[in-house]
Amino acid sequence: MNDVERLKREAGISACDFIRDGMKLGLGTGSTVRYTVIEIGRRISEEGLNVVGVPTSEATRELAEKVGIPLISLAESGGLDLVIDGADEFDNDFSLIKGGGGALTREKIVAQSSKSMVVVADDRKQVEVLGEFDLPVEVLPFEWKRTRDRISSCCSGSVSIRGDSKPFVTDNGCYILDCNFGPSISDPISLEHELLSIAGVVEVGLFVGICDAVVLASNGGVLTLINDSGRLNE
Ligand code: A5P
Repeated sequence: MNDVERLKREAGISACDFIRDGMKLGLGTGSTVRYTVIEIGRRISEEGLNVVGVPTSEATRELAEKVGIPLISLAESGGLDLVIDGADEFDNDFSLIKGGGGALTREKIVAQSSKSMVVVADDRKQVEVLGEFDLPVEVLPFEWKRTRDRISSCCSGSVSIRGDSKPFVTDNGCYILDCNFGPSISDPISLEHELLSIAGVVEVGLFVGICDAVVLASNGGVLTLINDSGRLNE
């Protein structure tokens, strides 16, 4: 296991400290939270942990089923206690860029349905200003080039369709446009609203005012950063 993989594993497993018996959990998507999902499965089978989960992607659904996490739909849950998910970047205000794995829309729906959100990350994801990582935007396939051109008018860098020879298709049957803003997203709320006002945009990978804590792994150890204005402080 290389260094980055070890840090992902440490963050993913440490975040399980937030889980309590009886919780309804949102299960995020990506290579870091994968370790969280596996650890939840282990605690269920070896320690009798009693939780249910709502997956944020088909990939996470498959993994959760494999490790034995009982799954329900969001509608059946009536609301979640906690979602644990990864991020591509987070800043000092706990604003996030997500969607590197293409699951941003389901991730945001699940996060907005949860009483709290904990992000798992290694220290490469911590930034002063969001945008070094290309911002993923999920769009309808219908006339996507027009949507891309509209997005380009508010993005100084390139806007590229994800996928090499053919577009990457999300779990929702949509495409992803990766938007190169550079580290310039100092007002993520305004940018989110601007992009969401473009017809054809399904969802934007900016998560603002949703993240309550980041479990951050670095070579110096694992640190839990708590958002002072977050819901874990209430
Ligand atoms: C999935 O769509 C994403 O939002 C991921 O949570 C994010 O890309 C982080 O993934 P990794 O943990 O694989 O870096």
